[in-house]
Amino acid sequence: MINHNVSLKQFNTFGIDVNAESYCDIDSLENLKTILKEQYTSPFFILGGGSNMLLTKDIDSLVLHINLKGITVVDETEDTVIVKANAGENWHEFVLWCINHNFGGVENLSLIPGNIGTAPIQNIGAYGVELKDVFVSCEAINIEDQSNRTFKKLDCKFGYRESIFKQELKGQYIITSVNFRLTKSNHQLRLDYGAIKTELAALKIKKPTIKTISTAVINIRQSKLPDPKDIGNSGSFFKNPVISIEQLKDLKINFPDAPSYKLSDQEVKVPAGWLIEKSGFKGKRFKDYGVHNKQALVLVNYGNAKGTDIYALAKLIQKTVKRIFNINIDTEVNIL
Ligand code: EPU
Repeated sequence: MINHNVSLKQFNTFGIDVNAESYCDIDSLENLKTILKEQYTSPFFILGGGSNMLLTKDIDSLVLHINLKGITVVDETEDTVIVKANAGENWHEFVLWCINHNFGGVENLSLIPGNIGTAPIQNIGAYGVELKDVFVSCEAINIEDQSNRTFKKLDCKFGYRESIFKQELKGQYIITSVNFRLTKSNHQLRLDYGAIKTELAALKIKKPTIKTISTAVINIRQSKLPDPKDIGNSGSFFKNPVISIEQLKDLKINFPDAPSYKLSDQEVKVPAGWLIEKSGFKGKRFKDYGVHNKQALVLVNYGNAKGTDIYALAKLIQKTVKRIFNINIDTEVNIL
């Protein structure tokens, strides 16, 4: 059923109050295909978990809220299992489902906001793991002719917070389900990144399991990242910029303590959170919006901020970082 003039406040984790001219909740593939066919001349706005977008204006097209549910085991061997999850499943609930079934591979990705269907679009990642590490394939529907297409891992051209769905196929497909390959035994535990080991030690865990790693990641994230239920946000607002070794040398002249992660012999990644903190924005609050006080990469809506306010702040941050460090930082969040 299509409704009109629907507020999207509860459907985006930033909690921005804009209206959709029309809105339809999609709970089956048949329903999705029928709507696409009937409305094929209209532009569509595809809404998943609403966790990676900043809405700056009302949406004057039809919003399709992808609410396809279901998680099933579709294949297994002695050591691994293929799990199919439908696009409307909440990502973190899927992670918990995997842990309850003792299926390993996604525990480091605990508590990432968003849904299954949007996870491949930006190749979500945290604590040394990216979605692509467990991704087998996804099913998608072509918006124009409603044909089905299977995308294998290589087809998706995954990169750092990147995929074909953000680039050449942007706006052309709706992901309806994702297949993951997970371990049933001999789980490959990844503990080297960030504060995981420190947190496990604090929890007095000597032999980590996928469950305790998930708990550690949840604790770390909760200590640094605001819960969208309490304070509107979209996780990291910016990507960590990649710069050349020469640029890093220049940076270190004035900022010898600048952190960096080596990507290759030519390039390093610099934490945007550090650049933004050093630019003086961490914890800054302007009326109803600002920069989170524990993680400068996260912009927040304390209540009734407008998307345009947050966008203006993001622009100011980019300009200031450029002026101080001569480094461009790109947004990770889609601005709409
Ligand atoms: N830092 C600061 N000040 C800050 C924040 C960070 O100085 O306010 C510096 C510190 O030196 C810290 C370093 O930045 O050691 C890295 O910080 P952190 O480990 O928190 O990771 P990040 O680079 O800020 C990335 C992802 C997160 C992911 C974490 C953990 C991006 C853009 N962000 O953040 O992803 O959870 O690593 O793996 O790559 C997201 O995409 O929404 C997201 C939260």
